[in-house]
Amino acid sequence: MQHPSVEQGQRIPRHVAIVMDGNGRWAKRRFMPRIFGHKHGVDALVRTVQACADRGIEYLTVFAFSSENWKRPTDEVSGLMSLVLVAVSKYLTKLEKEGVRIRIIGDRAAVSERVRAAWQQAENATAHNTRITLSVAFNYGGRWDILQACQRALALGLRPEELDEVRLSQLMAMGHAPDPDLFIRTGGEVRISNFLLWQVAYSELVFSDCLWPEFGEAQLDAALRDYASRERRFGGVPDAQPQALRA
Ligand code: IPE
Ligand code: IPE
Ligand code: MG
Repeated sequence: MQHPSVEQGQRIPRHVAIVMDGNGRWAKRRFMPRIFGHKHGVDALVRTVQACADRGIEYLTVFAFSSENWKRPTDEVSGLMSLVLVAVSKYLTKLEKEGVRIRIIGDRAAVSERVRAAWQQAENATAHNTRITLSVAFNYGGRWDILQACQRALALGLRPEELDEVRLSQLMAMGHAPDPDLFIRTGGEVRISNFLLWQVAYSELVFSDCLWPEFGEAQLDAALRDYASRERRFGGVPDAQPQALRA
C-alpha cells in the first residue's frame, strides 16, 4: 500500500544514501558533549529506516563512521565504538522484526573484536529479511572501496580485459545493491566527504541544513519531493534509463 505522504504516481527512489552529519553541532547547541549528539543520531537513524521502509524504499545506505573519522579526539572515537554496541543491543530485535536486512560496509580489520562481533550479530540476525536493506558504512571510505575492489580483482587473478565496470562494481562494498538514486547530506556542508565515490556517479544530490539528530519523516519527505521533481538523464535524453551495471 502506498504511504499517505507519497503522492499518486510520485517517483520513489529504490536506493537512498545519507551522510548523517551534524551530530556534534546539534549537541554543542545544547551545551552537551558531542557523543550526546551521536546517541540522538542513532534514534534518528532508526526513525529514518522505518520511514524509508514505509515508503517502499528498498535500500538505505548511511555513513556512520568514515575512514578519516579516526582523526577525532580519542574519547569521541571510543564513544562512537561503544555506541555501536549499545545501538545493536537496543535496536537489533526491533529492526529484525520490521524486516530490515543489515549489511556493514567498510574495513573491519581496524575495528575492535567486540565491534566486529556486534556487526556480525546484526548481519546474521537479519540475513533472512527482505523488506529493506540497511547498509551501514563504518570505517568506510570511497577511495578505500575502489582500492579494495581492485585488490580483490588482482587476487582473483582477473586479466585486464576481464575487468570492466560491471565486474568492478560487483567487487565493491555495495555490490549487493543498485547505485543510489538519491544522495542526501544533512548538516549544511555541501560535499561528499569520501562517501560512495564510485556509486554516486548519477545520483541526485540533496543537501539539507537540518542537523542529523533532527532528521525525520518531514525532512525525508521533502527530499523525496525534491527527487521526484528532478529530470534524470544519465548523459542521454530526458527519461533515459541508467546503463545496467549489474545483472
Ligand atoms: C556526523 O556528525 C557523525 C559522524 C561523523 C560520526 P558529526 O560528528 O560530524 O557532527 P558535526 O559535523 O561536527 O556537527
Ligand atoms: C562525514 O562527515 C562522515 C560521516 C557522517 C560519518 P564528517 O563530519 O566526517 O565530514 P567532514 O569532515 O565535515 O567533511
Ligand atoms: Mg561532521
